[in-house]
Amino acid sequence: KIESHLRPTLLKDYIGQEKAKETLKIYIEAAKARGESLDHVLFYGPPGLGKTTLAGIIANEMEVNVKITSGPAIEKPGEMAAILNNLQEGDVLFVDEIHRLNRQVEEVLYPAMEDYVIDIMIGKGAGARSIRLDLPHFTLVGATTRAGMLTAPLRDRFGVVQRLEFYTEEELRTIIMRSADVLGVEIDAKGALELAKRSRGTPRLANRLLKRVRDFAQVKYDGRITEEVANYALDLLDVDRYGLDHVDRNLLLAMIEKFQGGPVGLETLAASIGEDSGTIEDVCEPYLLKNGFIQRTPRGRIVTDKAYAHLGISYKNQ
Ligand code: ADE
Repeated sequence: KIESHLRPTLLKDYIGQEKAKETLKIYIEAAKARGESLDHVLFYGPPGLGKTTLAGIIANEMEVNVKITSGPAIEKPGEMAAILNNLQEGDVLFVDEIHRLNRQVEEVLYPAMEDYVIDIMIGKGAGARSIRLDLPHFTLVGATTRAGMLTAPLRDRFGVVQRLEFYTEEELRTIIMRSADVLGVEIDAKGALELAKRSRGTPRLANRLLKRVRDFAQVKYDGRITEEVANYALDLLDVDRYGLDHVDRNLLLAMIEKFQGGPVGLETLAASIGEDSGTIEDVCEPYLLKNGFIQRTPRGRIVTDKAYAHLGISYKNQ
């Protein structure tokens, strides 16, 4: 069971990702009409955009159970075999960070996804033989931050591959209003818009910031979230006007001050600010790229004029 009452459980209550919703609705309807399990689905894109939520919705709409695990959690082929063997007909198996499955575990998935079977080795050496075990028809829903990190044989076994996009301000504003309603906190349109602007296109962050801003509204104001409350709280939380946090700003500053605006390679940049390169690539960069603060070139990342302007640094001073 997926926790958090802020997550929608039906496709009709899910806001944004119109393309994904529209196509999933058809695939679900078609599979149900045929009495079959849904084809395997891969979601990719930056964290917090709704991959887990969609896996839960798929299971709910298909009226099956969902079993949730992650790439790093499954260490041995036998563990994967056991999970698959315990599924019921039609169930959804959600594997988060699926690019982090190790090779042997991943190989159990190939025949499982393709033919709903697993091959189990019995014995060792010359007397060893393998027996084939039938599995229930299940739906694998995989999630990854970057589809490029999946091996080709795994990627090719997903019938549906869907990229998730950053949300628009308007979509985030609607999500925030809905979440405020669920939490029982009063928020006005301008307060919700300010939160939406600073949530870097990400519902998970929007909901997290909403909870923190609610605390400020409760203690410092009359409980109602207005534009003033949102501005006050978000400034204190170090989330700027574009939703950049101190890691994003550090990164831009380092590119400007240590590398003359670039181009600079990912690993060099990561080491210079003491951040994990994977976090920079999966979390920071997609948003900075999308919003035109950085650009990628064949020789590395460069900062844009917009980044200089946003940080209040004059280009000529460099
Ligand atoms: N809560 C988190 N993500 C959501 C979404 N996409 N739609 C509605 N509520 C949400």
